[in-house]
Amino acid sequence: MLGYRSSLQLCLAALIANTVSYSPTPNANHIFNAIHSSMRQWGSSLNHNGMSFFLATVPEGTQLYHGDWRSDPIQGPEWLAFEPEHALVFARPHPHNPPPPGDGPSPPQQVVGEPNQAEDGFLHTFAAARDLRLLYVDGMSAGKTSNGTMDSQDRILFHGGREDGGEGWMEEGERAELFCRMVQERWGGRLDGMLRMEAGFEIILCDFARNIEVLRVSRVRPREEGMPGGKIGDHAGRLWLPAVASRYWNIGGDRVRLNYDYLVTAYVYGLDLFPAGERSQPRLEHLPSNELEPMRRDLDALIMNHETSESSTNWQAVADMVVERYGNRLRYLASGQASTLQQLQEEIEDIVTPFIDYDRRNTSIEVEQCSKHFVGRSMSVTTVAADAVLSVSRSICATLLNALHHTEYDLVVGQIQGLINYLSWTTWKDCNGCGDHEICMIPMWPLGTVNDYNHPQCRDFAQLDGEGPRYWALQFPLRKP
Ligand SMILES: *[C@@H]1O[C@H](CO)[C@@H](O)[C@H](O)[C@H]1NC(C)=O
Ligand SMILES: *[C@@H]1O[C@H](CO)[C@@H](O)[C@H](O)[C@H]1NC(C)=O
Repeated sequence: MLGYRSSLQLCLAALIANTVSYSPTPNANHIFNAIHSSMRQWGSSLNHNGMSFFLATVPEGTQLYHGDWRSDPIQGPEWLAFEPEHALVFARPHPHNPPPPGDGPSPPQQVVGEPNQAEDGFLHTFAAARDLRLLYVDGMSAGKTSNGTMDSQDRILFHGGREDGGEGWMEEGERAELFCRMVQERWGGRLDGMLRMEAGFEIILCDFARNIEVLRVSRVRPREEGMPGGKIGDHAGRLWLPAVASRYWNIGGDRVRLNYDYLVTAYVYGLDLFPAGERSQPRLEHLPSNELEPMRRDLDALIMNHETSESSTNWQAVADMVVERYGNRLRYLASGQASTLQQLQEEIEDIVTPFIDYDRRNTSIEVEQCSKHFVGRSMSVTTVAADAVLSVSRSICATLLNALHHTEYDLVVGQIQGLINYLSWTTWKDCNGCGDHEICMIPMWPLGTVNDYNHPQCRDFAQLDGEGPRYWALQFPLRKP
């Protein structure tokens, strides 16, 4: 018995010596998720406090929409939507879109409630007259909330641009004017506008005459007086949210190209971005201005030194391969369905076996081959995006390959659960398979409840707006810190 135990211990020591230790790049998981969720309504709604800026191109000819109570030609700066149903929300008076004189300002709360009595307006349909050069602010960056969705704009982008030199909340019109003035005065006209997301992606376009052609201006469907169909809340269920939810996983049609080789992200400056704990949403609000100065300089340099049209490696496509390869497998391994150590290790070995040379077992070589499986020879691997994607891939491969050498079931499952918590992939929150007249409802500003965030469920178009506490704190009244 003693002999057996001591030989087992020797064996254990040798096996544990055969594991690799690996320390991930700081915030690699968050940068990976920002790349994975870029230009996707789903992930950008869940990780709604965007910390990154990308250069973006919208190709010439792309159709874009603007809702307005006027039929006259639109002058910039103004807002354009990718989905026409999103633009229809603004065909009636709204803060994006000043109401006819005499109506007074209408706060955005009215988007979800009863609209002002006003004439039914117009849907303006445009086509981009040339490739549009845009700055993409990621996350729910058009969500007018005090929950951090505007942090990157108000603390990074607009700091230094405000006339009073101060920081803090701004009106939407002020943001648009300021951005377009910065394009001219600070960046030598190198951009045409800004790309953001709320419930739907939108562009703030500075110069309409130069950049866009009118295809048509149509009167919108009249409101049915006294009918539930007359409410914008109902419009959200029947038109708006189903249309933007169709873009959960892709803006589609190659309507936006991002440059992933050069991006500016708050995750690489050693900042304390999670004052409320690592499981909460990141903030910039609490950080002293001087700590943000290096990021502001890098944003200027991004805009001044790079063209939006430069070719770049599509690291989102690589991130997709990683998520699709491992997402379901990891969840299965953590589920307890493989209920013995041997079953669990067989499942794990099935995943990593292509990267093992059974004549020459060497875990560090196996981890290296497993984590670089996605990388083509011509890809530049020295960028922030490459480093984050490779670091995440290496964390997965090291956890799986090390698990083959462990001798305790609970240890293996615990490490895989730890990996899942670290990765926090947005795909794991998907409802998986809603009905044809349903969407998997999550909060998309200005709609949604706390429960929609914590437990997304399939909801019928007729009942998208759930009960219980609202998720978003509206950014009203406007205040300065
Ligand atoms: C948003 O901010 C409000 C006000 O600060 C807060 O009460 C609420 O809990 C926040 N919601 C989320 C989801 O962070
Ligand atoms: C595994 O491979 C690495 C890299 O080639 C090498 O440094 C290391 O000594 C090898 N380990 C074993 C146990 O052979």
